[in-house]
Amino acid sequence: MLFKGVPDVVNEHVNDWHKKVILHSIGGKGEQRILDAGCGYGRLSFPIISRFPDFDVIGLDISENYVSLYKKNTNHPAWMGGVENLPEELGTFDFILCVTVLMYLDQDQLVRAISNLLSHLKRDGKLILIEPHFSGHYFQTWFGLLTFLMKRVRKDTVDTQGRYFRSGEIEQLFKEAGGQVLSEWRLPMTSLVFGPLALAGNLLPNGVVRPFCKFISLLDGLLGKFELPSIQVAFLIARHEKE
Ligand SMILES: C[S@@+](CC[C@H](N)C(=O)[O-])C[C@H]1O[C@@H](n2cnc3c(N)ncnc32)[C@H](O)[C@@H]1O
Repeated sequence: MLFKGVPDVVNEHVNDWHKKVILHSIGGKGEQRILDAGCGYGRLSFPIISRFPDFDVIGLDISENYVSLYKKNTNHPAWMGGVENLPEELGTFDFILCVTVLMYLDQDQLVRAISNLLSHLKRDGKLILIEPHFSGHYFQTWFGLLTFLMKRVRKDTVDTQGRYFRSGEIEQLFKEAGGQVLSEWRLPMTSLVFGPLALAGNLLPNGVVRPFCKFISLLDGLLGKFELPSIQVAFLIARHEKE
């Protein structure tokens, strides 16, 4: 589950975008060593493993429960540990995924995690980072109305307390740690219609909502390079090579 209290069809739509960004970034040349940092139960390792069964994909999570779920679900190894304290023995990777994990760290842990993630990249390695963005916060909650309604409709809705990153914040933090952002993708149209999408997902059959999501994805693909309000932003990051 990505967003709590949001219909499955809308979460599937965001999940599809994550998969697209990740598989596009990995590309698939040669055998790759990949770390899914903050792997959860393996949601994002699945598509990599099924597309590239020979890749060496490893999970890591702070939660023991997720580590065992990951191993059981993917049949791949997983380590228990924090991204702010990656064990040396993990070695280096061609790609590290880190999706909606940094949002849970305090400032100290965040700075340590960024430097740790960069130091576990191979020379040409890349980090694929996806985190919530402040610019889409009000659109995501429909200016607070969606949160208000969801709390009444779904009593189990919990605020997970993660942070939203402001424009330029990720870029600056990585720059200070010796990294550089190579590319950035956004979900602008999804953000702008998040409220109507969630409502439609609750009221209409999936067969009607899915084609609408496909259309929104198409617009996101066209507008994703512009700095429009977005609930999440994906970054492709490398170590900055000193001359
Ligand atoms: C929102 S889930 C995302 C899981 C997965 N990346 C995905 O997108 O499906 C956040 C995950 O980060 C893990 N996590 C939280 N803090 C962490 C930390 N300091 N180091 C490693 N994992 C952490 C949680 O246990 C949880 O599995």
